Amino acid sequence: MTSDPTPVPTTGGNPDRPLRILALANQKGGVGKTTTAINLGTALAAIGESVLVIDLDPQGNASTGLGIDRRQRKVSTYHVLAGEASLGQACIPTAVPRLMVAPSTMDLLGLELEMASAPDRAHRLRNVLKGVGETGATAGVTYVLIDCPPSLNLLTINALAASDAVLVPLQCEFFALEGLSQLLRTVEQVRGALNSRLTIQGIVLTMFDPRNNLSAQVVADVRSFMGEKVYETMIPRNVRVSEAPSHGKPVLLYDLKCAGSQAYLRLASEIIQREGRLPVAA
Ligand SMILES: Nc1ncnc2c1ncn2[C@@H]1O[C@H](COP(=O)(O)OP(=O)(O)O)[C@@H](O)[C@H]1O
Ligand SMILES: [Mg+2]
Repeated sequence: MTSDPTPVPTTGGNPDRPLRILALANQKGGVGKTTTAINLGTALAAIGESVLVIDLDPQGNASTGLGIDRRQRKVSTYHVLAGEASLGQACIPTAVPRLMVAPSTMDLLGLELEMASAPDRAHRLRNVLKGVGETGATAGVTYVLIDCPPSLNLLTINALAASDAVLVPLQCEFFALEGLSQLLRTVEQVRGALNSRLTIQGIVLTMFDPRNNLSAQVVADVRSFMGEKVYETMIPRNVRVSEAPSHGKPVLLYDLKCAGSQAYLRLASEIIQREGRLPVAA
């Protein structure tokens, strides 16, 4: 990791609602990163924030889940990170008001190799995020959520180097804590070498099943290990949440009343409350 102490002026365009850049990271696959990017993004937009989801996973599940089909992804995060397009050019509006996505394609798989010897390889995303929220397609954006791939690779390092904070989705399963220490160590390293303002935003427990004793035990362990960093709100395992992406919709549009949608709305409120932001007047 090359050091770069230059602070990034990412204040956004609105002094009352400073821009927040959050990376959704966990090197384990299938823990709910993408589901949280889509649905937390939607919930934040529903309560008045203006949100940009950046899809940094070559799988492109966040893009698909937000209803962006492959043909629409002419300009993707690959082009943005390769320096071939601006972030604004990649932004596509979604069916949710105030929610945009910068989609990804499989091209991202090759980027790591292409960037390997570039001196700015860890700061590509940070550099393209300069001025986000201020002008052009991203004007007015108040939250950027970065959906990371299931690996601590250069794409995830780019996300951590560009973010104010990390939000860690943790699945309520037996091996939940395994891997968390490694992620926390990586966050420490990035803070030391690449991004001194990086903090842990919080840990969100996902796929919680109240009927399962093991789920409850995992919750107790994670709360005693990570304390206040764990959100009160837990996302329950809910079939509507898993059905929604096949309809290209966030669960809040697919079934607003279901337990999963309601949990993501509570999580969004809890996050803005913890940040000391006042709710946007309706
Ligand atoms: N709360 C939930 N209830 C039921 N299924 C869920 C829930 N959250 C995620 N899933 C499902 O679990 C799988 C993995 O979730 P995903 O968000 O893609 O994880 P990741 O991005 O960490 O790999 C997906 O099939 C998703 O639909
Ligand atoms: Mg994912």
